[in-house]
Amino acid sequence: MVDWQMIYKQAKEWVVEAGDLIKKSLENELTIETKRNAKDLVTNVDKEIETFFYHKIQSSFAEHRIIGEESKGHDISDLSGIVWIIDPIDGTMNFVNQGRFFAISVGIYEEGIGKIGITYDVTRDEMFHCLSGNGFYMDDKRINTLKPFKMDEALIAVNSGLMMENRSFDYKIIHKLIRDARGSRHLGTATIQLAYVAAGILDCYFSTKISPWDIAAGRVFLNEVGGELTNFKGQELEVLERTSIIASKPGFHEIFFRDYLREK
Ligand code: IPD
Ligand code: CA
Ligand code: CA
Repeated sequence: MVDWQMIYKQAKEWVVEAGDLIKKSLENELTIETKRNAKDLVTNVDKEIETFFYHKIQSSFAEHRIIGEESKGHDISDLSGIVWIIDPIDGTMNFVNQGRFFAISVGIYEEGIGKIGITYDVTRDEMFHCLSGNGFYMDDKRINTLKPFKMDEALIAVNSGLMMENRSFDYKIIHKLIRDARGSRHLGTATIQLAYVAAGILDCYFSTKISPWDIAAGRVFLNEVGGELTNFKGQELEVLERTSIIASKPGFHEIFFRDYLREK
């Protein structure tokens, strides 16, 4: 029998330890490289933190598998057993340019089912965490089931690419949505925006090109508090696919697909 409480406690401790390493690294000069394009950044710290988790997990849970954004487990194509899905720094551009507003994201899945989610906002020292079935927490505060979405009170989060002409979505629909809502935000970290939707701090979040490590923790949170999560077609997401997402309070998807997409 898997001791999930023990894994949960251990994972949170490692995340805090990794957070301390990242905070210390802010005093040093970063080595910055680019990946897919000039805006897709990776630093020596992203790589070091992924390696930190890799060694910790390997030494304590040798049978668990690991998928990390920077290099680990990219050949994994099935979710049998227990799989840790890790983004060592989500919001690397914020990390590099601002030195704040980035997070460590850890999702732990068993046979493809999300069991544990952890999103640690390092510089705010704020941890969102959940062991499935045991409640979603912001630090020690338990978050209740989400209230229904209300357009006139809503804050809509979008990634900036969706605000301008793009290949995957008609940006005018997003503009209309933002006009109808109370306001919009784009924060530069998927995992924090997903945690915020689950905590009721944001009302919905739209993004394209989201990878498994961006969403592995958030999916566990949303599931726990009755949030909604689909791709832009309204379909359920596969854990290992790179995809578009709409995450929201309950009721948003019905309004969006009925009243906004139909007008297109
Ligand atoms: C990125 C951030 C960003 C989102 C991108 C992600 P990274 O992750 O979460 O907010 O819009 O899609 O790739 O590269 O900082 O780990
Ligand atoms: Ca990321
Ligand atoms: Ca990252």
